[in-house]
Order: sequence, then C-alpha cells, then structure tokens
Amino acid sequence: MCGIVGYIGPRSCTSIIVEGLRKLEYRGYDSAGIAVVDVSPGAQAKGEQAKLHVVRAVGKLGKLDDVLREKPVPGTVGVGHTRWATHGRPTEANAHPHLVGDVAVVHNGILENHVELRRELLAKGRKFLSETDTEIAAHLIDIALQTESSLLVATQRALAQVRGAFAIVVVSRREPDVIIAARNFSPLVLGVGEGENFAASDVPALLAHTRDFIFLEDGDVAELRAEKITIMHAGQKVERPSKRVDWSPTQAEKQGYKHFMLKEIFEQPTAIENTLRGRVILETADIEEGEVGVTAALAKSTRRVILLACGTSHHAAIAGRNWIESIAKVPAQVELASEFRYRDAIVDEHDLIVAVSQSGETADTLAAVKDAKRRGAKILAVVNVVGSAIPRVADGAFYTHAGPEIGVASTKCFTAQLAALLMLAVYLGRRRGTLTEERSLSLLQHLCEIPSAMREVLEEAGTCQKVARRQLVATDARDCLFLGRGLSFPIALEGALKLKEISYVHAEGYAAGEMKHGPIALIDAQMPVIVVAPNDSHYEKIASNAQEVRAREGRIIAIVPKGDHTIAQIAQEVIHVPDVDPELTPFVTVVPLQLLSYYAADLKGTDVDQPRNLAKTVTVE
Ligand code: AGP
Repeated sequence: MCGIVGYIGPRSCTSIIVEGLRKLEYRGYDSAGIAVVDVSPGAQAKGEQAKLHVVRAVGKLGKLDDVLREKPVPGTVGVGHTRWATHGRPTEANAHPHLVGDVAVVHNGILENHVELRRELLAKGRKFLSETDTEIAAHLIDIALQTESSLLVATQRALAQVRGAFAIVVVSRREPDVIIAARNFSPLVLGVGEGENFAASDVPALLAHTRDFIFLEDGDVAELRAEKITIMHAGQKVERPSKRVDWSPTQAEKQGYKHFMLKEIFEQPTAIENTLRGRVILETADIEEGEVGVTAALAKSTRRVILLACGTSHHAAIAGRNWIESIAKVPAQVELASEFRYRDAIVDEHDLIVAVSQSGETADTLAAVKDAKRRGAKILAVVNVVGSAIPRVADGAFYTHAGPEIGVASTKCFTAQLAALLMLAVYLGRRRGTLTEERSLSLLQHLCEIPSAMREVLEEAGTCQKVARRQLVATDARDCLFLGRGLSFPIALEGALKLKEISYVHAEGYAAGEMKHGPIALIDAQMPVIVVAPNDSHYEKIASNAQEVRAREGRIIAIVPKGDHTIAQIAQEVIHVPDVDPELTPFVTVVPLQLLSYYAADLKGTDVDQPRNLAKTVTVE
C-alpha cells in the first residue's frame, strides 16, 4: 500500500525522504510526491513566513527523483509519499501530498466517511482539486487551524471527525519546526535520531539513519520536533518508549543479487536458523517456554486451535494446522481471515487463535483477530515485523526473526513461519503430554538439519532456471497445475501463487486427489503439471496421480526425493530434493517452486520485486 517518510532535523530533507521511499518501493505504488518546508535563514526573525514546496509525479519514484534533480527544493523539514491508488486514478492531481492553505498532508489508508465529509465541505464552499479522500483531511486541518494555535491540536480536532484506517503525516508553513504524525489501523513508526526525528510506514525506510523506533498505537497523534517527540492519545499526553530494532541497513539491500526475491530465497537457511535460535532445546527435547507466546497453562487448556491468515501466510497456516493435529493432537482448523471475519463463526474462550502474518499489519487478519478476541478467544501472533499491529492486539507473540523481507512475493518469511508453526506444535504436544520425548527429539534434531538440507536444494538453482526456461518460458505456458497431497498440498498452493504473482502465468494449486473431480479436464500436451512428491506416506498415491497426468500427455515437472525412479520415469523434468523427515518435507519442496517462479518471471522480464497491482502490506480490505 502507500509509503510515507517524514523528516525533521538539521539536514537537507529531500534525499533522506526519497531514499527512504525507495526502501518502501516494495509496498507498491503508482505515483509519488514530496512536501518540503523551506525557511530561509533569518526569515522567522524577520517575521517572514516559510515556503511550502510540493512536487508530485506519476509513475515510479525515479520520475519524482528526476524532477527534484532538475529543480531541487531546499528545506530540512518534509514529508514524502508513494501512492497505491484507492480513491481516484493515479494522476498528478491525485498524488500526495495534498496542499490546502498552509497545510500539506500525506495519507495511507481509507477515510470511510469521505462521502459525507466531502458533501459537508462542498456545502461550506470548499473546492477540491483531487478525487482523493486525503484532500478532505487536509481541508479539515486547514479549517481547524483557523481557530487553533497549534498544528498538533488542529490535526487532533480534524481527525476526530474522520472514521477509518489511516496513517497521516502533516507539515505546515505556519509551524515550520514541526511534523505531525497520526496512526489509526495503518502502519506508522517514528524513528528516533540525535537532533533529528523521522516518521515512516515501515522500519527499513529509516534503517540508514536509526535503529531506535517508536511504534505508535492506534489513535496516537505525535508531534515531532528535531529534539523532541510528544505523543497524545485521546487528548492526554502519553509515553511510548522507543525499541531498538536489530535489523541492519545492509539486510535491506540487494547485496549483489539481481532481485530482493532471489536474495531472500537464498537467505532461507539463515532465516530458519534465526527462527530456531534460542528456542529449540535438544537436551530436553523441547521448545523453550516463554519463546512461543503461549503459556504452559494455555497450552494445556486450549480445546481448539484456529489459524487465521491470508495469501502465502495462509498456506503456511495449512501446514501448521496439519502439524498441530498430527504432532500435538489438538483439534485445529485453518481459515482465510478475509472470510472468517464475515461469517458467523463459533469462537469462544476455549479457542486459541493463531494469526499468521509476515507484516503483522494485514487488515483482514487484524480485523478477524480483534473480533475473535472480543469473543473471548486467546490470540497468538506468528509475525515477522516486531511492533506491528497484530502482535500488539494479541495475548502473545511468536516472532519469526526472518529479517526484513522486501520482495513482494514472500519466500523466507513463509519458511520461517513453517518453522515457527512446527515448533508451536511440538511445544503444545510436550505441554499436553501427547508427544513423546523420543519423537520430539527426533523431530527437533531433523528440524535443526533443515537449513543444510535447504542449502542442498539451493544448489539446484541452475536446474530450476533451465526447467523454467524450457517448460514455462520457451513454450509460452499460459496455465499450470501444481499437485500435492498432505503437507505438499499447501506447497502446491504456494507454488501456484508464486508463479501467478510474479510471472503472471495462470496457475492452480490442487490437492492431487481432487484432480479427477475437475481439473483433469484441462490436461493436454500444452499443460505443465508440477507434481510435488516427497518421500512420505502419500508418495504412492501421488505417483498414481502423475500416471493419470501422463496418460493425458500432460508435461510433468517432478519434485521428487533423490533416488526416485517411479515418477522420474514418466516426467519431462525432474528436480531432486533431499530425503528429510516426512513431517519436514515442505521446507525442501517449496524451494524449487520459488526458484521456478523466480526464473520464469526473470526470463519473461517482469518486475519481480514489485509485481503489477500487488502490495507487500495489504492494509485495506
Ligand atoms: C505473498 O507472496 C503475497 N504477497 C501475499 O499473499 C501475502 O502473503 C498476504 O498478503 C499476507 O500478508 P501477511 O503475511 O503480511 O499478512
């Protein structure tokens, strides 16, 4: 969704803001803009008013950068924005910041009562230059400033009139030494520097300048000065201590890789080592208590686990559901958060809701969690981004520690979620006495070996590239089928989603047993069918499904364990994965699917890290 960066301090702000916005490019956008408060030396002493420069451009950030290079704007206080259109087309007039009177406003989110507010403002004679809901907020602040002395109070008064999700940052030439930042259900963090302060939609935008962050609560309105941050909540001043983030600036760089996605695929072994670190205790064949966000008492008393998530996180949650039932023997179900929140699901205080989300900000997951909490359920957040919204609502957090994920297509966060959910299953099983020490030890030992098994799969990257070229790009494949059973079913779903989102090839993930109930009609000599068939109890069944595909001349790309001959014999292409514990196969089978999608997209020349129409953090419904 939209990206915001604000700066106040002694330095010239345009390059800080544009570089920060560049780090947020992964959020997706269609236009960009900047507002800079320009105070000429000695102007205030002479009673001169500051200038407010607004520059906007449609398209990629480079376009804005070009305009700023040609015509630099001076100033040390400013705010920038990348827009992902919700209200109104991606035009310059709709791009943020929106300037009304002395005030410039950027906004991420949706003001739900924009229709009635616009009508009221039009009736008061206000003129609108854009189709956006944001311009309404700028008018409301401008009106409030006519009677309020400070930008902080005027913004509070204006925001009291709007409903919806928003992160808003405001600058004004009337108060050139202040930035106002407000958050309600849309992400916004404050970066704390020395003699300078920042606001941004996400941590990576500011890592080059600070590692100390304040995570605003919903309803907070902050006043940033170069030396001081004041935060108001419901009219009262509140303290929000800053937290140190251990992500390094280089983690948010490509480090020689062609794309962030490729880098993040290759980072998976390390990401999983970080997820496991300090949590797996082989000596006791257990998971460290206090590390998973669930107390022993809750682990014992829970009657049912409901996993809620969207997209890729939903696929991890399906594997999690299987593990929680097979390893911990707790009844478990998995639901798309976007559906769950709108149906009359039965939830009560005996349920443990596990919300799985890379960003921790996904609007549907957040809303579903809040609703379940109201109905008495306990909430566990399995999340990558520390301080994000979902863990703040939850009773406990299990951070995946995968490091920043910049590519829109999730890869390392997916496998880190798998590791976290597997550990959760072991933890629940050990607390409830449903998992023996012997089986737990074996699972955990094998889990600790997973990073090296994944490194082995990554050595097959060249094979994946050739297969992608031969079977997906050279043949100009338009449709693909991904088949899997058991734990390979969510992997088939994930493989299909990856291919769709970055290469724009239509793909379906199917439980292989369902193929004969419909999709088999699609199979012909043009159809690549990716068969995910690791060494587990489903192998023979899926080998039969592969035969059914071959009998209809489908082109099989087989993901099989080393030493497999049965499926390899009938497949056009074979990609081998190491033989791992049957419960752990998703960690190795997903990697070739990520690589196939990556290379297919790269060979086709699509925008791998920022696929069209997609956003990394989906903060609207
Ligand atoms: C993954 O490749 C997608 N970009 C998308 O499906 C994503 O997983 C989904 O939007 C959920 O995001 P979250 O994990 O941040 O909640």
